[in-house]
Amino acid sequence: MKLEDIKKICVIGAGNMGHQIAVCCALAGYQVSCTDISQEMLDKAESFAKGYLPERVAKGKMKQEQADMALANLSFSNKLEEAAGDADYVIEAAVEKIEVKRKLFADLDRITPSHAILATNSSFIVSSEVAYSTKRPEKVCNMHFFNPALVMKLVEVVQGAHTSAETAQITMDLAGKLGKTGVLLKKEIYGFVVNRILAALNAEAMFLADMGIATPEEIDIAVTNALGHPMGPFRLVDLTGIDLAYYIGMERYQTTGDPKDKPSPLIVEKFTKGEYGVKTKKGFYTYD
Ligand code: CAA
Repeated sequence: MKLEDIKKICVIGAGNMGHQIAVCCALAGYQVSCTDISQEMLDKAESFAKGYLPERVAKGKMKQEQADMALANLSFSNKLEEAAGDADYVIEAAVEKIEVKRKLFADLDRITPSHAILATNSSFIVSSEVAYSTKRPEKVCNMHFFNPALVMKLVEVVQGAHTSAETAQITMDLAGKLGKTGVLLKKEIYGFVVNRILAALNAEAMFLADMGIATPEEIDIAVTNALGHPMGPFRLVDLTGIDLAYYIGMERYQTTGDPKDKPSPLIVEKFTKGEYGVKTKKGFYTYD
């Protein structure tokens, strides 16, 4: 298989990442079916696309024809069979729960054409954890986007021991076709490169806030002004999701048994209150 053989991409999950990945793929000229078990999430994803694309045209950032093409390329369905049945490439961006992903990959293996590549956009789970739920582990890899996916340029591609060189190369080529810069990791490691670096920064930021050394706002002011990051760690975790930070911490703690890997008390407190950040309009900050 070659990059040119990819005509249709299926994006699984219409949440924080999936809805923007779907629009990225549609803008690159692919037919895209976005699927989710929640009709509400699909409706939100569809209205996002219908609002975002004309807005880009109005801002002079995109031609009308590009927006029209992207909208025509996009479809939304809550039926996995319908969305993935004729896909050449699948990007799974479902909830970060290993059992859900294993079941999805087994279903995708049954549903999709045998040539289809099955990639996971997981933020931290390596694809060997799901590849063996399929009979095509050589066609399984990580393709990891960053939030907001329409803006952030990096895509991490991880080639596990089970992933063929062809699958890794096509995925790198696809990242390029989507206008992204791909980085290919040839060894699996939990969290890959960026989220490992971010986790170290976040752990220290949470520690300082938990100890009462500085408030989240003060830490964000310090990091943005001293290190030149566009957002401080607390505003960023609001954007990427406090629920995600909680799940990552819990999953990692269960894997390593190291108490340092547990989500920090501040994250647990926000998670327990259902304050997940931008998506619930309240996290460390409040949003309109
Ligand atoms: N969706 C789509 N586009 C968005 C957007 C969103 N949520 N937020 C901002 N944009 C676009 C705007 O439309 C604007 O585009 P143009 O310049 O082409 O018009 C551009 O981004 C800049 O937006 P703003 O001027 O409104 O705001 P800003 O300059 O503060 O930028 C930001 C916003 C791009 C989010 C910037 O703050 C930033 O880069 N933050 C850091 C994000 C980051 O670190 N992401 C990685 C997170 S880690 C991760 O994702 C790991 C994981 O596994 C989930």
